[in-house]
Amino acid sequence: MSPDPAPARTLRAATIAGVRQAIAARRTRGPVGLVPTMGALHAGHASLIERARRDCRTVVVSVFVNPLQFDRPDDLAAYPRTLDADLETCRRLGVDVMFVPDAAEMYPQPPACVVEVGRLGDHLCGKRRPGHVRGVATVVLKLFQIVQPGAAYFGEKDAQQLAVLRRMVRDLNVPVEVVGLPTVREKDGLALSSRNRRLDDGERPLAPALYRALCEIRRQVAGGADETAAIVSKAANGLPQDDRLRLEYLELVDPDELQPVEHITGPVLAAGALWVGTTRLIDNVRCEPPRGQAGTGDD
Ligand code: PAJ
Repeated sequence: MSPDPAPARTLRAATIAGVRQAIAARRTRGPVGLVPTMGALHAGHASLIERARRDCRTVVVSVFVNPLQFDRPDDLAAYPRTLDADLETCRRLGVDVMFVPDAAEMYPQPPACVVEVGRLGDHLCGKRRPGHVRGVATVVLKLFQIVQPGAAYFGEKDAQQLAVLRRMVRDLNVPVEVVGLPTVREKDGLALSSRNRRLDDGERPLAPALYRALCEIRRQVAGGADETAAIVSKAANGLPQDDRLRLEYLELVDPDELQPVEHITGPVLAAGALWVGTTRLIDNVRCEPPRGQAGTGDD
């Protein structure tokens, strides 16, 4: 899949005024697309950028490691930063504008106004990472206000994030189309993630265990199993016995409201977080019960 012909160069803006100016000059030419990222770009990010490149006249990629969504200072400090390589990736993919603010530019003072997401943040990562979902929704709304894109592109890899952002634009009448795109995976099933580069050679072969557990859940659901507790414990018991693996959660929720489902009567999202050594990985798959399974959950 080759992107449209690359523009002459990728403009890099570090300030809100600068990125607004760069976009204003281009806005009259056609639709503006935004791909928000925290950098350390990989093929998953590239799939979003390529789609934006096809859809939009002007493509903006933001690279900002957002402190507001980190619940642990050590995680924020250790988050991979590869700005030169990211700039190169953006050039190669024909990105028009790269927005790379620092924390002082985005948060000149601690924000008093934030986006609360209610019960959408009560489970999955929202339950385990206090403030995380609010931090994501807040920074994305800020980016929408700064860039004012017609469309913004997000990965299904972060399913809770995507569901929350879809809901945010609806609830708050934000005129941005939220486009969700499939998870890009390594050959062994591991979802690409900026955090994968923190896995050492011994840990890397263990990392696909989460996806395998999720696939096992999908298989059970497709086969007609409908009791979540039994399904999840079978999948969790199937994880390799290894001291470096620690399951943080494995949950089945409904795909829109993200509330736990005890008895499966329709499509569900199976989502999990697995620690591999000191690296926390998340993943999810959508599960469909067999056609005709009792209930009214199908839509
Ligand atoms: P980050 O983890 O850098 O991800 C940026 C975007 O890339 C998100 O929409 C994410 O879902 C998507 N993505 C990551 N891995 C992917 C994969 N393997 N396949 C497809 N898409 C993938 O998510 C964030 O940053 C931040 O929370 C952000 C939205 C930028 C707000 O700070």
